[in-house]
Amino acid sequence: MTSYDSVDFFTDQSLVEDPYPYFDHLRSRCPVLPTTQHGVVAVSGYEEASEIYRDIETFSSCNSVIGPFASFPVPLEGDDVSGIIERHRDQLPMNEHMVTMDPPAHSRERALIMRLLTPKRLKENEAFMWRLADNQLDEFVETGHCEFISAYAQPFAMLAVADVLGVPEADHQRFRKGFGLSGTPGEIAGGHGDEELNALGWLDSWFADYIEDRRREPRGDVLTQLALGTYPDGSTPEVTAIVRTATFLFAAGQETTARLLAVGLKYLCEYPDLQDELRAHSERIPDFIEEALRIESPVKADFRLARRATIVGGTEIPAGSAVMLLNGAANRDPRRFECPADFRLDRANNKDHIAFGRGPHSCPGGPLARVEGRVSLQRILDRTRDIRLSEQHHGRPGARHFEYEPTWILRGLHELHIEFTPIRSA
Ligand code: HEM
Repeated sequence: MTSYDSVDFFTDQSLVEDPYPYFDHLRSRCPVLPTTQHGVVAVSGYEEASEIYRDIETFSSCNSVIGPFASFPVPLEGDDVSGIIERHRDQLPMNEHMVTMDPPAHSRERALIMRLLTPKRLKENEAFMWRLADNQLDEFVETGHCEFISAYAQPFAMLAVADVLGVPEADHQRFRKGFGLSGTPGEIAGGHGDEELNALGWLDSWFADYIEDRRREPRGDVLTQLALGTYPDGSTPEVTAIVRTATFLFAAGQETTARLLAVGLKYLCEYPDLQDELRAHSERIPDFIEEALRIESPVKADFRLARRATIVGGTEIPAGSAVMLLNGAANRDPRRFECPADFRLDRANNKDHIAFGRGPHSCPGGPLARVEGRVSLQRILDRTRDIRLSEQHHGRPGARHFEYEPTWILRGLHELHIEFTPIRSA
């Protein structure tokens, strides 16, 4: 018995630093493995995770964010726990967000978002992102160094979402301050110290103001579209439902994309040949992004609750089980990806990864995140040369060290200190 059999995924800090040997261990025991950790069934196989994501009849999303810590007031007993889920789901954390909903509520809320993320809107958003990337780089590129996540990735990812939602550019600095991303030392995140219980309460109230304003006085802008959007049956959502949708986009789209950008930069530093290759062939940047999503999937663990007893990959899953879908493990399943721990720009099946999930809940922000990655890398590569890791912060080659966010949900660098030579004429 190795120590991995008794390690606790939810608390062990060594797994935060490098979860991949543990994921390989789980998969070698069984791609669908019942564990003793809070009774979760750990899914580390690619096919098995994809099957579960797609099977919304058998698996509920009610615990998608909190996993085994979804506590019901009654035991999840019986052959089918659907009734218990329906009776008590509104007592679970995050129940008001679509990511924890099942049909028909999920289909309704998701339709609202899909009306916003149209090809036309995404095209306009991309035009904004090119400007945003340069504005962001202007703030620090001349210095030749930065902590990439706070200087670029977080404000960029936040303002990209703000723009999708139609927040006027005149209000963008206000949003940066609100999220504590103003770049000004001493700025206090949120700016409303009395809202400890709901750290993003200020965001709710700003959006409620926008929506109410546009309902009173419609304009030809995206916020008006958001305010006047209807459910598929033609009914008008409450203001709170729209505000929830809007603010959830920040929650879902900001940290995930920021960590993707950071991991992309880390690989560029570690493999400088990739910088030259992508400068010479910018059409390969999308492949680079897919491979970064595969090899360091920002959403490490996602969850489902088995409504009924079922069998996946030959393993019995009892009704009421919390099932842990390990995207980071599935995307390194050697049955699907050859030499999965290698970063390969020319991997033929690089788009097969499930970093954005699969099925009806699959990430609606995927196209946006991909564009954010493409535009950012393009402009960073255009405006710099010789991007490298700061040895002062991350150590010398062969003795590098990185800190990761201490969470079991996300896989994300805590900081990434880089140095580079600015290109003045670009
Ligand atoms: C690299 C960046 C991103 C990654 C890796 C990512 C990953 C994911 C994953 C794995 C899910 C599925 C959750 C589940 O099935 O339980 C999801 C859902 C979701 N994501 Fe993303 N996401 C990213 C960026 C974004 C962006 C930029 C947005 C929007 C601005 C966004 C909005 C959402 C929403 C609204 C959902 C819930 C969808 C539903 O439940 O139907 N995400 N994301």
